Amino acid sequence: IRVGVLFGGMSVEHEVSIISGLQALHALDTNKYEPIPIYITKDGKWYTGPSLTSVDAFKNIPDLLKNSHHVILHTESKGVHQLINPKPTLFGKGNKKVIAEIDVAFPVTHGTLGEDGALQGHLELNQIPYVGCNVLASAVGMDKIVMKTVIRGAGIPSVNYVWFYSRSWDVEQEACINRVEAELTYPVIVKPANLGSSVGIKKAANREELIDAVTDALMYSNKVLIEQMVQNLTEVNCSVIGDHEEVETSICEEVLKSDEILSYQDKYMSQSKGGSKGMTSTNRKVPAEISDEMTQQVKELAKRTFLELGCNGVSRIDFLIDKDNGSVYVNEINTIPGSLAFYLWEPVGKSFTQMTSQLITLALK
Ligand code: DAL
Ligand code: MG
Repeated sequence: IRVGVLFGGMSVEHEVSIISGLQALHALDTNKYEPIPIYITKDGKWYTGPSLTSVDAFKNIPDLLKNSHHVILHTESKGVHQLINPKPTLFGKGNKKVIAEIDVAFPVTHGTLGEDGALQGHLELNQIPYVGCNVLASAVGMDKIVMKTVIRGAGIPSVNYVWFYSRSWDVEQEACINRVEAELTYPVIVKPANLGSSVGIKKAANREELIDAVTDALMYSNKVLIEQMVQNLTEVNCSVIGDHEEVETSICEEVLKSDEILSYQDKYMSQSKGGSKGMTSTNRKVPAEISDEMTQQVKELAKRTFLELGCNGVSRIDFLIDKDNGSVYVNEINTIPGSLAFYLWEPVGKSFTQMTSQLITLALK
């Protein structure tokens, strides 16, 4: 089975995706699968070729691309999916050249246009089976506001929030601020609606900081989310694998951080050399130091969130636990988590290789 592993992509998480993508590619069981790297550049071009399999090669991307093939996906007929040169007969004269064929696509693309349903829609239109969430679950999972509305509707706890469009902020800023101050108490956390890896997220302890943080968040998205901050906080993550018929939960991890908000820096820059042991091995405690009851509660909510959104494949659900009163809140879901959260599965006896096989099996089910 030829597996097209997609990574890179057009989001701010491009670099993170290169690491996750190559980790997944190298984890594939080569007795069963033929890994085919498909690197998506920041401007959305697809490349394939054997040079695209080493992290080191990505230190010089222009050279790397010179030694690789620029391709587009083309479904020739049912079950025949090709990576072809981008000026095929479709547009007239040139000869179609098939560079590679794939049987299943494996997106390891974090963030905008890779994890939000856009790429998944492209794969649907090409009628190619793919690993992970479908268009709807991807889109709901990526939009923090829609995601919260959906889980709230299912009675899954999340912290209180207010949101508005950039338009409202532009024309009635005073009313927006009043709503925040009526429904929440400072400090609050301000987030763009749809970015990953903590980009654009800020804490605001007063009105001045709120204005600053909202202005900042609106540079990334036309919707802004303002959440009640949990001050005495434990952050715990749990991964789920499966589909609507059967789900499993991983071990829980506790996220340790240097800043109040886990920054992009915390998440990716402090990784130990080589980075093969998960993205931030130095900044997490596995398993999380929480009681057995709380672990059970987290796992149960992780499963419910996964099912409520209609997820498939592997997701990581991130929780906030209020140490003062023991409340557990779902914070967000990552439908293509960093490193595919393999480091949460290894401790429960599922190797990264077994995990990738399971994900491909789910995709082809
Ligand atoms: N969005 C990143 C990759 C994560 O939270 O895992
Ligand atoms: Mg995230």
